[in-house]
Parts: sequence; structure tokens; C-alpha cells
Amino acid sequence: MKPAVSTKTPEFASYYGRLSQHSIAPLWEVLKNLVTNEPVTPCVPAHWPYEQVRPLLFEAGRLISAEQAERRVLVLENPGLRNESSVTHSLYAGIQLVLPGEVAAQHRHSQAALRFILEGNGATTTVDGERFEMYPGDMILTPSWQWHDHQNETKEPIVWMDGLDIALVRLLDASFAQHANQKEQEVTRPKETSRNLYGANMLPIDDAPATQNSPLMRYPYAEARAALERLKAATAWDACHGIRMRYAHPKTGSWVMPTIGPAIQLVPKGFTTTQYRSTDGAVFAVAEGHGSANIGGETFSLAPHDVFVCPAWAWRTFEARDDLVLFTFSDRPVQEKLGLWREERAAN
Ligand SMILES: [Fe+2]
Repeated sequence: MKPAVSTKTPEFASYYGRLSQHSIAPLWEVLKNLVTNEPVTPCVPAHWPYEQVRPLLFEAGRLISAEQAERRVLVLENPGLRNESSVTHSLYAGIQLVLPGEVAAQHRHSQAALRFILEGNGATTTVDGERFEMYPGDMILTPSWQWHDHQNETKEPIVWMDGLDIALVRLLDASFAQHANQKEQEVTRPKETSRNLYGANMLPIDDAPATQNSPLMRYPYAEARAALERLKAATAWDACHGIRMRYAHPKTGSWVMPTIGPAIQLVPKGFTTTQYRSTDGAVFAVAEGHGSANIGGETFSLAPHDVFVCPAWAWRTFEARDDLVLFTFSDRPVQEKLGLWREERAAN
């Protein structure tokens, strides 16, 4: 045992005061909070049922236009991170509404984004010169610094979840943003270009070198769902996940973007997963199905389009009442690159 030293003495107080005048602080007062034995996070388990979020979102639709708001989004703020626009310590999640006839003007920024479509059919987003139609369950990428604008030329509203690496970029003080004079960017690539080039398990033979961002921008739900269904029938289910797949960069096999890692999982009807945790705090959206999630000891009842968050290193389990499909994203690509990512499966 180390001998105890009382630092609550006039001598220490005087010393700390003099240190402070030089912008110096004693490490021994803070060390155990800086270097913790396990991950410690202000992020808490939280759940946003869609039946509560949706009416509030459509109220925003009456109060402010997409043009006035630039982006009409309700930010899902983690209760442990209020006023920081953060859903986990590193990530942002929001629910965006674009009404028929509206355009969300083009801009670009350092922050990478992905969208997971919740409702609406056929509204479009234009990313880097290519226009993509959006349908429920689709995942669409907006990598760092690519121009993007959204337009809804259909007769129904469109709603999606945005996931961005805002807090991570803020931590690194690396944010740039730019607005354009033109409300909508010119569409310079024919429809389905990226899909035709990269969406069939083949690559153009003389393609340019890969970048960290996937050249495949839209990952359709129909394909992801069909793959999960085939795996459900033909493979053993993972005790902790059911069937869980990550979205892949077609040229490198790596994550689709360097900072945000999306995945999708199917927990088959009647299946209960065993306890799992990992160092990447994760945001989940229910693509379809009903069930429940136990996150760090809290139980949430799940319905389609609900969003919930699992903090870093919190244990989680899922129980599926019918086939439960969960979309998720986290900062796992960052943690893997830095050699920090860990996971743990509870011993049965
Ligand atoms: Fe944006």
C-alpha cells in the first residue's frame, strides 16, 4: 500500500494556487479519472420511440420550411450529453423531414454523414453529381466534403435518420463547411452510375485507386434484407447478434467511410441474444419488426423506426417478437484504426 498523503493542507492549497497561475495542474489529483480501468462515458442508454418523435417532427414541418431551416432536423440528444448535439460521445443522430416540393439546399462539410431512410418513397438526394432515390431501409452515404442536396418531388413526405461524426470532428477541431450559390447541384452522372459500376461484385478493370470512401453511395434495403434472410436460413445464428453484417467498401472490403461504420442485423423471431458489449457506442434504428432491447440494464420495447443508443462498453441483449431488423452505426472504424476497439461476450 502506498502511504496516504493529505493534499487538503494549506501548503498544498498554496502550491496548487501558484501552479494554476502558470496554467499547470498536478496530475495526481486527476489521474484516476483520466486513465480508467474500463471505459467511462457520460453517454447513457436512451430510446426515442418513433410514435413520439414523428408528431414532433411533423410539427416542425408546419413551423419551419426546409429552406428556412437549411436542414429540418430534430437532433436526438443523449440525456447524458444535453446541449452538445451528440447521441454518443463521438457521434450525432438526427431525424430529418423533407416535405413534398421542398429542396434542402446544397452544401458540403468535413463531417461525414449517412442516411437511413425511415419512411417515404422516391424522394432524392444528390451526392457528388449523382442523384439517388430513397426508399425505406436504404442506406445512403455522404462522405466528407462531398456536395449534397435533397429534393422531394414526390407527393409524400420523406423521413430519414442522419448519422454524422460531428463530435469527433469537433474534438479534432477539423471542421470546414461551404455553401453554394446554386440551390441544387448539377446532376453530372447518369442515374445508377455508381451502382452499375460497383454494385455487382465486380469492378471496372482500369479503375482509379480506391479512396477511404466507398464509391457505392446507396445500399438498397431490398438487397440487405434478402441477404439477411438467406443467412437466416442457411447459416448458424450468432449467439450475441443473430445475423449481423457490416456494409462494405466494394474496392477495399473495409468500412464504407473512415469515421462511421454502419451495420445491419436480423434477430430472428423468438430468438434472444446473449450479452455482448464493445467499446464503440452504437446508434440503432429499427428497420422492421418488434421486440425489446436491454441496454446496460434498461429495457426498451421496440417498434419500427424507433431509435436507441447503446453506450460504449454497456452490455446489450435483444429479444425478437417477430423478425427484428436493426440498422446500426458507430465509430468502430476509428477505434479499429487506432488499435482501441475491443469487444466482450458474456460467458454462458
Ligand atoms: Fe449536410
